[in-house]
Amino acid sequence: MPDTPVRTAAPVRGAGAVLPAAPDLLCAALVEARSPRVPELSPYAPERPFPWNAPVTAGEPGAVIDLDRVLRLSLAAPVGTPGRLRPVPSAGALHPVRAHLLLGQGCSLPPGRYAHDPRTHRAHLRGPAPDGVRPGALVVLTVAASRTIAHYGHRAWPLLLLDTGHAAAALALAGATRADVLVSLDADGSLLSAAAGLPDAPDWQNIWPGTEPELPLAAVLLTPPGGPSDIDPPLRAWAALPRASAPTPQPGADTTPPCELAAARHLLHHIAEAPGRPGGTWHPASRPGEVTDRALETRRSAPPDDLKRPPGKELLARILATARSVRPDGPDWTVAVGGATPALYAATPGRPGLGVRAVGDARPTLAHWAAGQQWIATSGAVLLAHGCPDDASHATVRSSHLVAGYAAGAAQAHATALGLRSRPIGSWQQADLGAAFGDTPGRDWIVHGLVLGAPPTAADSPVTTEATPATPPTASAAPAAPSGEEERP
Ligand SMILES: Cc1cc2nc3c(=O)[nH]c(=O)nc-3n(C[C@H](O)[C@H](O)[C@H](O)COP(=O)(O)O)c2cc1C
Repeated sequence: MPDTPVRTAAPVRGAGAVLPAAPDLLCAALVEARSPRVPELSPYAPERPFPWNAPVTAGEPGAVIDLDRVLRLSLAAPVGTPGRLRPVPSAGALHPVRAHLLLGQGCSLPPGRYAHDPRTHRAHLRGPAPDGVRPGALVVLTVAASRTIAHYGHRAWPLLLLDTGHAAAALALAGATRADVLVSLDADGSLLSAAAGLPDAPDWQNIWPGTEPELPLAAVLLTPPGGPSDIDPPLRAWAALPRASAPTPQPGADTTPPCELAAARHLLHHIAEAPGRPGGTWHPASRPGEVTDRALETRRSAPPDDLKRPPGKELLARILATARSVRPDGPDWTVAVGGATPALYAATPGRPGLGVRAVGDARPTLAHWAAGQQWIATSGAVLLAHGCPDDASHATVRSSHLVAGYAAGAAQAHATALGLRSRPIGSWQQADLGAAFGDTPGRDWIVHGLVLGAPPTAADSPVTTEATPATPPTASAAPAAPSGEEERP
């Protein structure tokens, strides 16, 4: 991040600004998702029963890769709860991400392909494993898009990418203490579908009519620690198998999707195409030292009233460093801070800490850009992921959003462990941060945000008292319960 001179944050661009021409589908979809047009209200779409219901296989205690633990700390709803709140956050608590488990030896379930039901926290066997597949668990993450599209309309597809990034981070953080973890956010969607034993998205409804298509977007590999690091993740070995068992058709699981849903599916399939490098790139994941299993389990998105107090500057610098460092790719990061001397900060090149990027209060503009969520104007601080220009390639659009979600997920877990309150913010309209700084418009858009607040009783000093070092509160501070309302940005 360049060390730019201090500038005053510019006001928001007019909501009625002329939108740029759309040279292709993706560009048009980006313009649309970032436009001020409000999605039409549609009735809340309840979650359908989990479509895979093959027999549940008993777990094998004592295995190196303990899937019960990894999934309980990441994607599963806590036992006895309605399933809306899970260790991983999700836009509108709609939880569109599904996990297909491709298991070799060394896991707490016998080798085979499984679909994980996050509400019951059960793995349903869908088929066998390839002969001689290496030990470990390959988890393919897909999205079932219909409920998120019903809720957010044309703004939904970036949220589906962000949600998948959060889910990949949750799995990686849960697994990284006892397994070696590699994460791919760019493997070819068709290869991921084949590996998971699913039809390619465009063929899904011909092959499995009456069931909801799933779009694969990411994969996480967990292997026993200390194994060879130079072996390719076994996507091709799994993809060579025949397709695994089908989900159960369900009424309303759409044979004729509404046009917005069909368009979003088409777009996400297109975005996930990577024929030049189908196996994807794989990056190791680790977990920030302070993040405990309890922090992962108790993470919550705090209600806005608990997010008003700016965290100490040292803590903000640590969260920003986590967001920037968990992946080598993806967007840039800036943090907007309130308090007595509000400013925007970026990381200081080559040394720890925060460098001032602009003085002035950006939060009212951020509140306007975040679909008018006014509480953001009085929040403590907002961590911002930005980049993804108007003419970004589909690979850049995919990585910008997946990595933003992944890194914000890691940042939220770290913030929780440090006792901070936080809440992700996913929908951004006309949020051209670069243009607000006076740079060329259309090059530097906000793609994700994480609002951060010091707990009301914490002993850390607000950002304005620069001389006093902040004291991290204890890691076990329990976050407040959410308001229970679905946000509708
Ligand atoms: C990608 C993403 C976008 C989100 N966007 C918003 C938002 O714009 N406004 C908001 O209040 N909460 C937002 N949230 C927080 C969700 O509402 C929250 O995760 C969900 O209600 C579940 O609650 P929990 O995080 O406490 O488990 C977002 C979460 C994610 C993962």
